[in-house]
Amino acid sequence: MRIVRTVQAMRHERAQWTGAVGLVPTMGYLHEGHLSLMRRARAEQEKVIVSIFINPTQFGPHEDLATYPRDIERDLHLLESLGVDAVFLPSASEMYPQGFTTYVVPTGPLVEQGEGEIRPGHYRGVATIVLKLFQIAQPQTAYFGQKDAQQVAVIQRMIRDFNLPIELAIMPTIREANGLAMSSRNSYLTSTERRQTAVLYRALQAGQQVCQQAMPADAQAVREAMQAVVASEPEVTVSYAEIRDPETFFPLTTVQAPALLLIAAQVGSIRLIDNFALHTDGTWDTGVIIAEERKADA
Ligand code: PAF
Repeated sequence: MRIVRTVQAMRHERAQWTGAVGLVPTMGYLHEGHLSLMRRARAEQEKVIVSIFINPTQFGPHEDLATYPRDIERDLHLLESLGVDAVFLPSASEMYPQGFTTYVVPTGPLVEQGEGEIRPGHYRGVATIVLKLFQIAQPQTAYFGQKDAQQVAVIQRMIRDFNLPIELAIMPTIREANGLAMSSRNSYLTSTERRQTAVLYRALQAGQQVCQQAMPADAQAVREAMQAVVASEPEVTVSYAEIRDPETFFPLTTVQAPALLLIAAQVGSIRLIDNFALHTDGTWDTGVIIAEERKADA
């Protein structure tokens, strides 16, 4: 496995490959959610590049850039065991050298709602770094997790808007035994908070049940079902419980496929986001709960 730290060296490595290339962009501190993307990329592509870069431009001024969890040694060990071909591990000054001025600025309702409303500038940072990574790694396919559904929608939109020759492969959310969606930031949770987080998954299940009773469902009834469940856990403060169109992120008044049930909440010092997706064919993507022993943090 090659560890590549500069743009020039990554381009040089990439130029020698002729077959299909998959890219898995990450910020490191890998968990089973990341590993599921890499396993799929490994199964589908001739060459797999994983990037690890804690992207400063997607963090707000009061967010956790300085304390974002890091463990490069462990990450590299996991990537080696998965048979990844190259790890792109640039520094902040390599990606944003002195004089950097050009950003990708997504506009409109897609980034003015949900996480975009609560974290202004976040998707500008995400779109900018993802476009840079696409340019450098030149993958045919890029792998992302369904957990960050709005990020997926922003990147899909950017691919269309800029005519990028890249396919997105979206993998289901990987969950801990209590339903908590895996995230690098879960490491901030205390054991009590970790137990409390189970309420998000239960809230999404309650929303899903309302949809399954009668379709098209009334979005207000779905929203209320989710909120009632979260209210049963006083230490968890709901930020939003919404039903949105998966592409535009417009709120829906009646729920019919395709739709996203979205929830965001504050638990202790951390903000959690999660979703269930109802696909056009009527199937649900509710994620995958994995057994304890398969967790990456062994
Ligand atoms: O999802 C993430 O980890 C990040 O937002 C990404 C896509 C790697 C861009 O920094």
